[in-house]
Amino acid sequence: MEPFEILLSTAPGLEPTLQAEAIAAGFPVTGVIPGGVTIMGTWPDVWRANLTLRTATHVLARIGSFRAMHLAQLDKRARKFPWGDVLRADVPVKVEAATQASKIYHAGAARQRIEGALQAFGATIAADAPVTVKLRIADDLCTLSVDTSGDSLHKRGFKTYVGKAPLRETLAAGFLAQCGFRPDEPLVDPMCGSGTFVLEAAELAAGLWPGRARDFAFQQLATFDPVAYGALTPPAPRASVLRFYGSDRDDGAIRGAVANAARAGLSDWCRFTRAPISDAAPPDGPPGLVMVNPPYGARIGERKLLFALYGALGTTLKTRFKGWRVGLVTSDGGLAKATGLPFLPPGPPVSHGGLSITLWRTDPIR
Ligand SMILES: C[S@@+](CC[C@H](N)C(=O)[O-])C[C@H]1O[C@@H](n2cnc3c(N)ncnc32)[C@H](O)[C@@H]1O
Repeated sequence: MEPFEILLSTAPGLEPTLQAEAIAAGFPVTGVIPGGVTIMGTWPDVWRANLTLRTATHVLARIGSFRAMHLAQLDKRARKFPWGDVLRADVPVKVEAATQASKIYHAGAARQRIEGALQAFGATIAADAPVTVKLRIADDLCTLSVDTSGDSLHKRGFKTYVGKAPLRETLAAGFLAQCGFRPDEPLVDPMCGSGTFVLEAAELAAGLWPGRARDFAFQQLATFDPVAYGALTPPAPRASVLRFYGSDRDDGAIRGAVANAARAGLSDWCRFTRAPISDAAPPDGPPGLVMVNPPYGARIGERKLLFALYGALGTTLKTRFKGWRVGLVTSDGGLAKATGLPFLPPGPPVSHGGLSITLWRTDPIR
């Protein structure tokens, strides 16, 4: 099988983290672009990337490219394209198109040409189709890709309870990596909400693949080979050690986080307790990492209350968590500073649902 280009997309700001993760997982990285990382590989690499990478949001397979200077040429080349090498005529598809610096400037008209070619191939076009074909025209070069993930990869498939302001799993995993989290160290999140940091940390320690329980769009492609896919073997299960702790003042969040951990098969690794930040305390044993994502982005007027909350968080961490490192995620640098924690210079902001959030890290607190 000839290798082809595979684009791993991620939240803008997390590209270097995804690059490091992809290299560590043995994928041959060929480039880093805004919003993603490119690798070369074949279909089993596509499956493994979807199943195992924690900071990628979609895995796009480049299935071909050709030049087109006008719509009639696009139409002709799209109708000649060997769709059957990748797509199944019995699986509905949808098409997305974007154009940039090209003679074909009307993305909607370009999309219709691809849809027409796909219908001629025998596929149905549907807005809720399980497979998406993406056309990108840049400098008159038309590149066709298939989104092999389907739902964004932050949807691991376990989190029925999401709480009020959940952090995406892909971002939580990226921030853990940026804090140098080691799966053999303890982790505490004293404002855990639905438990995202705790569950990501526990999965890493348990050696569980993030995509182990969900479906992917690649299962609906002509290139899918269930036998070869089944041969991708996950790591041997590791014996559980209780090391990951979440607390939150909200009872519903704690019940939800407990249920999420149970669904993910992680109950023996995690403990969730209802407690306000003023009662948070480290577990017995060696220090580790505190990861926390306090409330932010509140309406004007509420910010004053948030200053007090961040101040209380800082006091708790400085007095009770000596020797622990802290990673704090917020959209508001002023609030981060209100903790009084000795933060290192912050990393690049990361986009998260229309907001720009930043990780603030400390060395071990003295
Ligand atoms: C932005 S959410 C955290 C979301 C979490 N990272 C997740 O992925 O679900 C902030 C959390 O802080 C909690 N919280 C707010 N004030 C608190 C306090 N004084 N003590 C403990 N938890 C508090 C809220 O109940 C909420 O769950």
